[in-house]
Amino acid sequence: MKRLQLAFVLLLALTSCTKKAETPQGDASSQAKSELVVGTDAAYAPFESESADKTVHGFDIDVIKAVAEKSGLKIRVINTPWEGLFSQLQSGDRDILISAITINDERKKVMDFSEPYFEAVQLIALPATSKITKFDDLKNSKIGVQTGTTGDEVASRLLGKANANIKRFEGTPLALEELENGGVDAVVADNGVVNNFLANNPKTFKTISDPSFSKEHYGIAVKKGNAELLKKINDGLAAIKADGTYDRIFKTYFGEKK
Ligand code: ARG
Repeated sequence: MKRLQLAFVLLLALTSCTKKAETPQGDASSQAKSELVVGTDAAYAPFESESADKTVHGFDIDVIKAVAEKSGLKIRVINTPWEGLFSQLQSGDRDILISAITINDERKKVMDFSEPYFEAVQLIALPATSKITKFDDLKNSKIGVQTGTTGDEVASRLLGKANANIKRFEGTPLALEELENGGVDAVVADNGVVNNFLANNPKTFKTISDPSFSKEHYGIAVKKGNAELLKKINDGLAAIKADGTYDRIFKTYFGEKK
């Protein structure tokens, strides 16, 4: 019995030693955490895209970099698929999301948003020869959308969420490519991205807007309850709006403000 007790004490002493030895490592990793990880689905030009050398760039990236600089935040941007993007905030794998994310009530339940930094609206992309003149005409058509986006939402509202005529893609470029290939009759997506795509395919596509689509606002997202980080982001946003940095970035990607 005594021996067993001794062995137990020894074991305890040993484990506490091991724990001590681990402490500096633990500190190192929490220090590395001072670099905040930004997630973005970088297949969404001109907001975010990835170049051949794997660097991520675009309007959103310039905005978050400028915000981070103003607020003294160190950031690293990581290309992250749209599907699962939101849950990365929950798991702590991403600290910030900037990905042309429309602020809406459903998303507000699971994450916190900054003040709006960009206004958008859904736009319908069609083959130049299409007879469609309004969104309602698409009731019996195949509509391509990016899964879980606001484009998916409006299409689901018109056709019904479970309708097989809604073709859901991992990325908006894939949906637009499918339109090029004739696999879908229309694509519904954010105006900025559709217009950017069109600029590169001017002959094959046209767009129509629909008055039933409401204005959307993009926000920068943080984990629900992370008020400290959200405040820094909002302060940074306000600062780049006040000193002309935001306008300069806007002009780079979209020309003069309307
Ligand atoms: N604004 C739309 C939404 O929030 C689409 C965003 C898609 N963004 C992206 N980087 N793929 O649902």
